[in-house]
Amino acid sequence: MSSNPTLTDLFDRTISYLRVSLTDQCNLRCVYCTPSPLSKLEHKELLTYEELLRVIGLAVELGVKKVRLTGGEPLARRNIERFLEGLAKIKGLDDIRLTTNGVFLGKYYQNLLDAGVGKLNISLDTLKPKRFQEITGFDEFEQVWQGIQLALAKGFSSVKVNMVAMRGVNDDEIVDFAKLAMEYPLQMRYIEFMPIGNGGSWGADKLISTGEIKQRIETLGALTPISQKRMDGPARVYELEGALGSIGFISPMSHKFCEKCNRLRLTSEGALRSCLLSDDETDLRAVLRGGGTDDDICNLIIKTIQAKPKGHYLDESPSGCLGKMSRIGG
Ligand code: GTP
Ligand code: 5AD
Ligand code: SF4
Repeated sequence: MSSNPTLTDLFDRTISYLRVSLTDQCNLRCVYCTPSPLSKLEHKELLTYEELLRVIGLAVELGVKKVRLTGGEPLARRNIERFLEGLAKIKGLDDIRLTTNGVFLGKYYQNLLDAGVGKLNISLDTLKPKRFQEITGFDEFEQVWQGIQLALAKGFSSVKVNMVAMRGVNDDEIVDFAKLAMEYPLQMRYIEFMPIGNGGSWGADKLISTGEIKQRIETLGALTPISQKRMDGPARVYELEGALGSIGFISPMSHKFCEKCNRLRLTSEGALRSCLLSDDETDLRAVLRGGGTDDDICNLIIKTIQAKPKGHYLDESPSGCLGKMSRIGG
């Protein structure tokens, strides 16, 4: 297949960022993400590492520049070292990132660095060990905290902490999290709670908007916007007066960022999804396992991108979409 240098959709957005969910399984059970009832794909339903590497390699040939590994918990998939070694060999892929809950960073940080995964987003919704157990179901706060410290000490070029702000659950810690950015060279990101794949846990009363979060952080010091690079994700980033790190806001509910969206997603069972919040999917696995050629796969990638919706309509219909966050990968 002759390589196409850009993947552009019908709304003139260039797709250059592929998010890959490696597994729907997670070692934690965060209230806002865990499907209810609990579900688990069978091993044979997941794309194999070889299949994943083939799709990623073809997407890179087509113009994808940045790949993010997500889950479930990507580091919970067995023999992840083997996959990371394969990923490191894909020519033209220089920007590989990982979103993780941080529990297994102590075990895998060297494999990640060796594979060129130099940028980490670590999810952490509370700094209180007891509350951590209530939100995630497990007593693993210390492991995550150690994971963040390791990430900072071992030379990852970017460390971001993701907090989903939920009123009445953890919003009393908004300022404490901002103090982390004061003290450490990390980006502290506040994410608006989205009604996706979380059964009963979402409620409009739990949504806390970026505007309100920002006001609370400003009690610590002034926030000044920082200009973004083209490859950056949806966060709007600010400098916090006197801080070593920075503050980011991801505001899918109050400030839709769809017109700048550059993302395509591959779910853990091999479906291509052009929008996080639309349940339309293309079944790549059937083609991969049915003897599909590289051309067939590239054509499906292009077709999926051409069907990418203009944006989401959560503001009009806040009931959300059905997709499970753990298989789509956020
Ligand atoms: P960077 O490359 O570090 O900027 O990453 P990112 O913000 O794209 O990735 P991350 O996995 O840390 O995602 C953070 C949050 O943003 C999660 O809650 C995602 O669900 C949300 N998010 C990421 N991409 C999109 C998107 O395309 N649409 C919507 N609505 N939310 C998104
Ligand atoms: N709303 C907002 N963010 C969410 N995440 C998972 N579920 C939701 C939701 N319903 C976040 C996780 C992780 C990222 C990949 O997605 O906290 O940081
Ligand atoms: Fe992109 Fe869909 Fe997210 Fe909008 S909701 S930013 S179109 S993935």
